[in-house]
Amino acid sequence: MENKELKEQINTLKKEKDAVILAHYYVDGEVQKIADYVGDSFYLSKAATKLEQKNIIFCGVKFMGESAKLLNPAKTVVMADDFADCPMAHMVTVEKIAEVRAQYEDLAVVCYVNSTAEIKSVSDVCVTSSNALRVVEKLPQKNIFFVPDENLGRYVAEKLPQKHFIFNDGFCHVHKSITAENVIKAKEVYPDALVLTHPECTREVIALSDFIGSTSEIIDYATKTDCERFIICTEMGVFFELQEKNPNKHFYSVGHRQFCPNMKKVTLEKTKAALESLAPEVTLPDEIMEKAALPLQKMLELS
Ligand code: 13P
Ligand code: SF4
Repeated sequence: MENKELKEQINTLKKEKDAVILAHYYVDGEVQKIADYVGDSFYLSKAATKLEQKNIIFCGVKFMGESAKLLNPAKTVVMADDFADCPMAHMVTVEKIAEVRAQYEDLAVVCYVNSTAEIKSVSDVCVTSSNALRVVEKLPQKNIFFVPDENLGRYVAEKLPQKHFIFNDGFCHVHKSITAENVIKAKEVYPDALVLTHPECTREVIALSDFIGSTSEIIDYATKTDCERFIICTEMGVFFELQEKNPNKHFYSVGHRQFCPNMKKVTLEKTKAALESLAPEVTLPDEIMEKAALPLQKMLELS
């Protein structure tokens, strides 16, 4: 089926089903185009609390759909692809968190939203890549157990020397695979380009960068900055919005691995099917619903 026809059908279905589509910047550009709200994880969490429609179709990975459900228990949240899951979300265990809690009295478990609802349910506060610094700075606790991403944790820790951080060894395979060597080579080819980097990248890559921020922050920075060339160290999905907002600027990747296979599972066809059937729905056990919503709400309060 032609994309145009598919898009028309999706728009008709949205009205018929009283549905709204939320999409992350890493999904395919064609999917971003039909979404009502496109953004980074923080923007999407906030947007999810202000929706009028009864049904939310989530074009992203599972933890994002779960966050939307936790913040909107009365709404139906449907994943465009139920198998789109972020591996990092599973890189810490409830047992590990309990172990660290037992070692420190004055401890906050800070949970990057890229985590399962079960992990959120045993955490004190959630953060995203755009608000982690702001949120952790406001916490009264001295000791911070940052889960699951080590790179984001270390990035925040360097900015907040007054806190004592305990790290977990989770990582994003997409960002971790971007190497300092990749960046150095790209800078040799484009010496006048600014390097814009997501904080899930390694410290070596961060050290070579001109700006560090979430996907939305990278897009805003490139749009506002008076420079024409940028080397982008994050998943390639952001190139769509970067180019839409800045048709005359040039954006370069650093290698062929800037590709999140899970985000790319979401397609227009699957989005249409999810709208038609309003399935697969995000469901969580009652206890998890109750407990995991708290750190997310705390994040919204503090950021
Ligand atoms: P953002 O906080 O920029 O949305 O990042 C989400 C993500 O999955 C990064 O890999
Ligand atoms: Fe997870 Fe990395 Fe994909 Fe983001 S880019 S969803 S952190 S695997």
